[in-house]
Amino acid sequence: MTTQLTPPASTSAPASPGVEAPAPGASAAELVARRRKGYSLEGDFYTSQEVYDLDVDVVFSKNWIFVAAAAEIPEAGDFVTVDVGKASVIVVRDDDDEIAAFHNVCRHRGSRLLEDKGFVGNIVCPYHRWTYALDGSLLHAESQPPTFDKTCFSLRKVHVRNLAGLVFICLAPEAPADFDEVAKIVEPHLLPYQLDKAKVARQVDLPEAGNWKLVMENNRECYHCDGHPELISAYFPIFAYDEEDITPRLKPLYDRYTKAADALAEKRREQGTPLADHMQLDTRQVGFQLTHLPLDGEGKSFAANGAAVCSKLIGEVKDAAFGDLSLHMQPNSWFHFLGDHAVVFSVMPTSPSTSVLRTTWLVHPDAEEGVDYDLEALCTVWNATNDQDRVLVTNTQIGCSDPSYVPGPYSMVEDQVEGFVNWYVTRLREHLGVEATA
Ligand code: FES
Ligand SMILES: [Fe+2]
Repeated sequence: MTTQLTPPASTSAPASPGVEAPAPGASAAELVARRRKGYSLEGDFYTSQEVYDLDVDVVFSKNWIFVAAAAEIPEAGDFVTVDVGKASVIVVRDDDDEIAAFHNVCRHRGSRLLEDKGFVGNIVCPYHRWTYALDGSLLHAESQPPTFDKTCFSLRKVHVRNLAGLVFICLAPEAPADFDEVAKIVEPHLLPYQLDKAKVARQVDLPEAGNWKLVMENNRECYHCDGHPELISAYFPIFAYDEEDITPRLKPLYDRYTKAADALAEKRREQGTPLADHMQLDTRQVGFQLTHLPLDGEGKSFAANGAAVCSKLIGEVKDAAFGDLSLHMQPNSWFHFLGDHAVVFSVMPTSPSTSVLRTTWLVHPDAEEGVDYDLEALCTVWNATNDQDRVLVTNTQIGCSDPSYVPGPYSMVEDQVEGFVNWYVTRLREHLGVEATA
């Protein structure tokens, strides 16, 4: 199997019941110092309030996080709000058709300005009606002295990037600069899908009874994918195999897979889209991974036998059998781009033991529900997959909270879980100034 993971050295400790569980209650600094490469994280990473607060303050507030599809705010004045711990951010399309982001805090006496999502002409504070333009400038404040300078009280800006229709924000004063390098690599891959002009067919928020990292770790491997019959029916069962893994029995299947991969490469070449895969999950601050996968059967989309789920192709894609472009971004998102639709995912932490998974399905703006696609059929695979994963995450949260839990070794096919965890632990070590001791 494809892997970048070095198998963990076998432990000299005897098997259970001799293995001792780490004593709970370690500080975050102790936890990140002794994190052992190739092994899952200690339980406190998923239960401790201190770690949770660091996750919010460091991981989610100092890095670029994916918060919305640009298609959720197609017109000037359309907005969504995003909660990051106690902070709230307004993401709005302004009058110049650009996407802007502001702290959702009034510059007068601090009231929350907007809730949830919707449309506004201006941003008007519900308390004393201070009124802000969509570019954040203060337009109007009643009963101020003549010396009052409105230009000093614009809404405070938040860094925002629109990466080919995917909106990322960063709450830090200085956002990680390598986002632009990553955007340069990723953007050409996304252009055929024209996500900025797509239509949101559905959005579902799934509450998870698990720490946000468990949701991400679960997404980063397909070791458990036998539990996803709907999802794996669209993929070749050997999609992560290297040639040396192919036994004579698998050879016909491998030949079919190779043929499909070659055909997909040819289609992407015809469309002028880059073909290269990229794996940079833990080698840079804006960690990411991008893979092109052919689909099995009809090779078109996430339905039984790889059938299409929308008759109108997304964006400027010319061929329904355009494979699956899979993109993972640290710390909180993953994406699948297909010939007929795209499905984008974000995970937000809500407490040490809970999080929310948001899934958004995007189609061509002219695709009509009931004509070009059936909404239930469009969403079947990922609704089922998310729910199956929800149970796995719930069980793992419970198990990791058990005093007997001891971190276990990642398999050869969990290299991307290791990539996620390495990236995460590095962020905390940098913040805390802690060296690895394990
Ligand atoms: S707190 Fe917003 S106008 Fe007073
Ligand atoms: Fe899964």
